[in-house]
Amino acid sequence: MTIMTRPAEARTLVNAPELAPVSIAKPDLITVEEAKTMDVARMTDLFKAHINPGQLHFMKLLGFHKVKVERAEGMYYFDQDGRKILDFFGGFGSLAFGHNHPRLLEARKRFQDEKRHEIAIAFMSQYATALAHNLAQVSPGDLDMVFLGSTGSEAMEAAVKLAERAAGPKRPKIVYAENSFHGKTKGVLSITDGALYRGEFRLVDGNVRVPFGDIQAIENAFRSDPAIGSIVLETVQGGGGIVQADGMFWLKLRALCDKYNVIWVADEVQCGYGRTGRFYAFEHYGVVPDITALAKSLGGGKAAVGAMIAKRDIYMKAYGTPKTAMIHAAATFGGIGEASITAIEALNVLYDENLIENAASTGDYLLKRLKAIQAKYPSIVKDVRGKGFMVGLEFHDFSQTLPMVLRPVVALLDDKLKGSLSGFVGALLLRDYDVLVAFTEYNRNVIRLEPPLICQPEHVDVFCDALDALLGRGIVAIVKDFVKSQVK
Ligand SMILES: Cc1ncc(COP(=O)(O)O)c(C=O)c1O
Repeated sequence: MTIMTRPAEARTLVNAPELAPVSIAKPDLITVEEAKTMDVARMTDLFKAHINPGQLHFMKLLGFHKVKVERAEGMYYFDQDGRKILDFFGGFGSLAFGHNHPRLLEARKRFQDEKRHEIAIAFMSQYATALAHNLAQVSPGDLDMVFLGSTGSEAMEAAVKLAERAAGPKRPKIVYAENSFHGKTKGVLSITDGALYRGEFRLVDGNVRVPFGDIQAIENAFRSDPAIGSIVLETVQGGGGIVQADGMFWLKLRALCDKYNVIWVADEVQCGYGRTGRFYAFEHYGVVPDITALAKSLGGGKAAVGAMIAKRDIYMKAYGTPKTAMIHAAATFGGIGEASITAIEALNVLYDENLIENAASTGDYLLKRLKAIQAKYPSIVKDVRGKGFMVGLEFHDFSQTLPMVLRPVVALLDDKLKGSLSGFVGALLLRDYDVLVAFTEYNRNVIRLEPPLICQPEHVDVFCDALDALLGRGIVAIVKDFVKSQVK
């Protein structure tokens, strides 16, 4: 067969108007090197102009706006003045390996040097399939089918969509918990119980909210509403302020879901990946959900990776035929090469370095030391709770106990910090002791401690000694000092 080719000039658009050659000037772009060397004043201007001017207000309250991180390694950030900041925040659980773990850097560098491919859509990807295999290996029971994405929200969106299709069109309703957090994208917003995040958006209606850990409320809902097809719960509530259900709850939940044929989705985005001293937090209770989700540390703190992992029979019900296979297949960056190999290496490091065992044992030590601090300052510390490296430190609400003279001054400060000691403590821990901790949107009295799983007892000692010294100053001194720093 002869293939006729047209001359090159004939391949240009027939009848196209004559266009003058365009010259496109390069816009005023910042280069990579300029970005690295930018000072705090310029960063602040650009943040205000292009990212989120309102957020800067909170950063200023906490003193976070003064820090420019130049480097990060292991348990520490290093700022522009060479200050070493101990990271007990851990990116809300995204830094299991600390910052820049050498094995993850090396795996990524080799991948780049070998000029490996990234996008996993046209051809199957050896990296995405290997990561899916590894996730099936670390997941109990027949949690074998894996959807790869880039974030926790995306993994949770995949989970609720799968549950809805597997439950069938007559059972679209979801049971979710008070104070839940499952992400801010439009779908899962309907099961994220925060007025702030809901922001008066239009939600999917008909979902049923129950108190977290209340098995009776769940049974009542299942019994009274046959349109309920799934239940979505964090195994340990993170955004709610490190809240656990009692141990028997999960066994009873599994039995109820089996009885009423309801699909149980366990959100392990924050509490999973070894953080509580088991790979999944639900493994403490000897039960297996029907669908689960991971993100945060799954990418080793270097890549954006989220995953939904589902029981095979559920997956097959929803997407198991050629006709249904593409309904929720991977998005553009799902299973992308370098992110996948980072996640593969990270899982290997997690087991090679016994980090799950470390989270259990060093996490116990952290809890013990915090309980001793609670015993020393019972009028300041109300509760210490958690498992492994997912720990909540709750302060008494001091807004009513503060001396009268200080109340108006504190009231001048932002609504968000009023009545909550955690903002003041967090700000001073950073300013005076070079320690970073996290706050809790739903419960302003709780500081969340989620250090990297590489954290050693000596880091726990540095943190606890700093906290002890700060609380030893007393509430009035802490508040006065904070207020002074705001009016400077
Ligand atoms: C329990 C839980 N689910 C889902 C998400 C959403 O994850 P992402 O922020 O990666 O979208 C988070 C994030 O904090 C989370 O804590």
